[in-house]
Amino acid sequence: MITTSSIKEYRQLTCRLPRPIGFVPTMGSLHEGHLSLVRAARKDCKTVVVSVFVNPAQFGPGEDFTTYPRNIEKDGTLLTKEGVDVLFAPAANEIYLPGHDTWIEAGGMAKRLEGAARPGHFRGVATVVLKLFNIISPDKAYFGQKDAQQTLVIRKMAQDLNLKIGIETLPTIRTPEGLALSSRNHYLSNDEKVKALALYQSLKLAKELHDNGERDASVIKTHMQTLLSAAGIKTDYISVADRRSLEELNLINEEALVLLAGYVGRTRLIDNILLGKQP
Ligand code: PAJ
Repeated sequence: MITTSSIKEYRQLTCRLPRPIGFVPTMGSLHEGHLSLVRAARKDCKTVVVSVFVNPAQFGPGEDFTTYPRNIEKDGTLLTKEGVDVLFAPAANEIYLPGHDTWIEAGGMAKRLEGAARPGHFRGVATVVLKLFNIISPDKAYFGQKDAQQTLVIRKMAQDLNLKIGIETLPTIRTPEGLALSSRNHYLSNDEKVKALALYQSLKLAKELHDNGERDASVIKTHMQTLLSAAGIKTDYISVADRRSLEELNLINEEALVLLAGYVGRTRLIDNILLGKQP
């Protein structure tokens, strides 16, 4: 595996990389969720490039940018084992030169849910992802359903800006007990890890209700809220939305996406589940 932190060096390399190039953007501290994307890229593409970059532009003031877990040596070892060709791990000043002043303003879909809770978050995500696409020049890029809204925002950007990159979405990887893997799970104590299981339990409850014919979104949300409150989780939002547009639904047709954000202690976690036909 070639490791580089330099845009110039990567660009010199690209012409020698056989296509298709599959790209997995990450913020590092890699776990099986990230590695599932890497494996999908490895299966589909001749070259696999992974980026590790903790993007300051997507963290709000007072968020966890400084404490975000970083472990580039371990990440490198894991990626080597997966047969990754190039690890691109730039420093912040390689990506954002002094005076950087151009941003991607993701539209309406990015203003709700995570976008409402974390103003500027998707502007930072969309900008860095487009910059990374321009640097890496991939044919396909791989994202996780775990961050459902982010994946939809990226898909919309790719469509709206005519990007010639296939966007692939892969299922959420969970612990055997159901907790969605996340770098932020590092912040949880053992007790909190148990408490956090209620997040997925509430999503499974939503699916069970829907499978049994419930179509009123507010009934589903109330049941989820009751379960989460009983577990001591403070919810930031529970949303029952259209799978593609993320518009809030009152009445569910056959398909929907249920998204939630909640605080387990001081740690804010997100998760989601698809109702109806599974992709
Ligand atoms: P990060 O949180 O490191 O996630 C990188 C990719 O891994 C994202 O596409 C995310 O959805 C996916 N992922 C995370 N946990 C997962 C899980 N349990 N199962 C499956 N996939 C999972 O998301 C980001 O970084 C950043 O916002 C980024 C896109 C890199 C832009 O900075």
